[in-house]
Amino acid sequence: MGTLTGEMQRMVEEQRLGFYATVNEDGSPNLSPKGSTFVLDDDRLFFADYRSPQTVANIRRGSLVELNVIDPLVRKGYRFKGPAAVHEPGSDIYEHCVEMLRAAGSTLADRARSIVVVEVRGARAVISPVYDDGTVSEEEVIRIYRERFAG
Ligand SMILES: Cc1cc2nc3c(=O)[nH]c(=O)nc-3n(C[C@H](O)[C@H](O)[C@H](O)COP(=O)(O)O)c2cc1C
Repeated sequence: MGTLTGEMQRMVEEQRLGFYATVNEDGSPNLSPKGSTFVLDDDRLFFADYRSPQTVANIRRGSLVELNVIDPLVRKGYRFKGPAAVHEPGSDIYEHCVEMLRAAGSTLADRARSIVVVEVRGARAVISPVYDDGTVSEEEVIRIYRERFAG
């Protein structure tokens, strides 16, 4: 079995939006969102590099990556961590991933400068403290945040 459980894969495919942390050359953190987060297989995630120069430069320099994917209504999600690689146009992985983006209906797929694949070596759940005392159900949390977003 791979690192990514069925539930993790379902969440990524449903949300698509991941927040990617890398490390800059001077040691400072770099965090940016990618709405093109896909499951490549049971151990790997990818995003399309449309306009992510700093994240890509950091990964090329060997930075590890942590990304968070959160369901904003349920207030639960996952933290994924591991090394990453940048795949250029013309490579098999690039072509395969761009085809996946197209198949999912992405209108930006052909603009991908590269495809960044994260090899997930660590994956753990992250849960809002709203659940800590056990008095609130998922349904109640969803209702509260649906109302808040609607406003
Ligand atoms: C909701 C959202 C989704 C985004 N999705 C992507 C994406 O999938 N790929 C990408 O390259 N940029 C995406 N961006 C744009 C980058 O996050 C943005 O250009 C950022 O400044 C890149 O920073 P970086 O060079 O530090 O990665 C997205 C931005 C937002 C707000």
